[in-house]
Amino acid sequence: MNQLLLVLDFGGQYKELIARSVRYLSVYSEIRSGNISADEVKRLNPAGIVLTGGPNSVYLPESPKCDPEIFNLGIPVLGICYGMQMMCHMLGGEVKPGNIGEYGRITVTLSAENPSVLFNGINKEPFAALMSHRDIVSRLPSGFRMTASTVGCCAACEDASRKLYAVQFHPETKHTDGGNEIFSRFLYDVCGAAGDYKLDDYIGTQVKAIRQKVGESKVLLALSGGVDSSVCASLLSKAIPGQLTCIFVDHGFMRLNEGDEIEDIFSKRKLCFIRVNAKERFLGRLKGVVDPERKRKIIGEEFVRVFEEESAKLGKIPFLAQGTIYPDIVESGGSYGATIKSHHNVGGLPEKLGFTGVVEPLSGLFKDEVRVIGRKLGLPAFLVNRQPFPGPGLAIRVMGEATEDKLDVLRKADAILREELDGMKRGKPDQYFAVMTDTCAVGVKGDERTYNSVVAIRAVTTDDFMTCEYTQIPYKVLTRVSSRITSEIPSVSRVVYDITSKPPATVEWE
Ligand code: XMP
Repeated sequence: MNQLLLVLDFGGQYKELIARSVRYLSVYSEIRSGNISADEVKRLNPAGIVLTGGPNSVYLPESPKCDPEIFNLGIPVLGICYGMQMMCHMLGGEVKPGNIGEYGRITVTLSAENPSVLFNGINKEPFAALMSHRDIVSRLPSGFRMTASTVGCCAACEDASRKLYAVQFHPETKHTDGGNEIFSRFLYDVCGAAGDYKLDDYIGTQVKAIRQKVGESKVLLALSGGVDSSVCASLLSKAIPGQLTCIFVDHGFMRLNEGDEIEDIFSKRKLCFIRVNAKERFLGRLKGVVDPERKRKIIGEEFVRVFEEESAKLGKIPFLAQGTIYPDIVESGGSYGATIKSHHNVGGLPEKLGFTGVVEPLSGLFKDEVRVIGRKLGLPAFLVNRQPFPGPGLAIRVMGEATEDKLDVLRKADAILREELDGMKRGKPDQYFAVMTDTCAVGVKGDERTYNSVVAIRAVTTDDFMTCEYTQIPYKVLTRVSSRITSEIPSVSRVVYDITSKPPATVEWE
């Protein structure tokens, strides 16, 4: 059992970043609801606790509070943003609205009289830290001292004798200078962490756990070719070769050669791999359909139907495996201990398929940890480093009706774009793809007038895909992409570049 750091959630948008930052520093972390009881915390015996930020004002009666006994357990606590305000408010300090809010990178000055162990690794002073608050701690609880400040607020305080520490800013984001150092000092100098969390043991531990859970039984996995289901397939094939069947429903909306590449990789592994070529079926169902939401719905329903038919042919398989990862659980309310969903339907698969058990060997991992495991299992880089790809595939990157002709053009344009951008050394977007618009435009090729398709390029920079900026790809690269697409694909007359961020746009066009 790894030593645990508990992240208690008060509704902060960065809770996953906190848990990840801690794991990067070799300490296992889990996110739990902020209303966990002190008894439960004692039972879990964490090396330390981090209280997250949150959108509320702590002085309002309905705002969330932790069990006050948590501060008396002798377990080190680090309050962040709302977590700091809550700690100070509950221990007798005062929190009130500040005169001005502080949002963005704000200069933090360390206190010369009250140095804090948390800032021992900060080698630049003052430093910039990400702030996002209106309320401020206006009076410290007794026993606390201020260890850092900005022009507008107390930026950090602590009562080291009770191992209670707090920062108003967000060390978990990369917008805070030295944020990792601050976590490191908290974990190692305050909590005395052992640093015993290493992904090296993960494969071995999971292989044993999977074998124990399923015994001699058979397991079925819906393999999409995405990072999570691919790593899941690979891990299961190591644990229970011969007992695993993977069904890959190729809906015909994959990118250039993608279906064949997935088949090539998994048909060589020790598992039963079934590729269902259902392109005609999906295209048939989408005939005449132009509404994006209807397209998505039809594809989801058809996927379930194909999967059901295939699984019925195999007879009764007791276990369903899924590539559920930790954020899936956290985002579906899993951090509130009692309401953890059993993710039977993550892939949209209906309960009536009648599985007796679910195997989710990646459910404790963040995406980047899943990628590490994938590499260790020998999966090729193109699979492990895959950008997010929507379940309905290219069907929602073709505006209007998704016809075979339009999909073919899109596949070629998308392949050219990826070829050109894959090798970018600096400023590479986090996700990039081509979109087939439903517009035609006049062009000229040779001495001929043409009236052909318009292809759009989408490339975004983001940490979490919930918001993003369009990437400022150098003109030189854009020019090469445009000239290759228009010369290599005769039916494209123009290439346009989408320069909209999210919000107001979304990443995908449909
Ligand atoms: P949007 O378009 O909502 O996309 O800004 C945010 C991120 O999610 C991906 N995306 C999907 N992923 N199934 C998925 O697994 C889907 O239906 C889906 N739709 C969008 C999108 O590519 C982007 O990374």
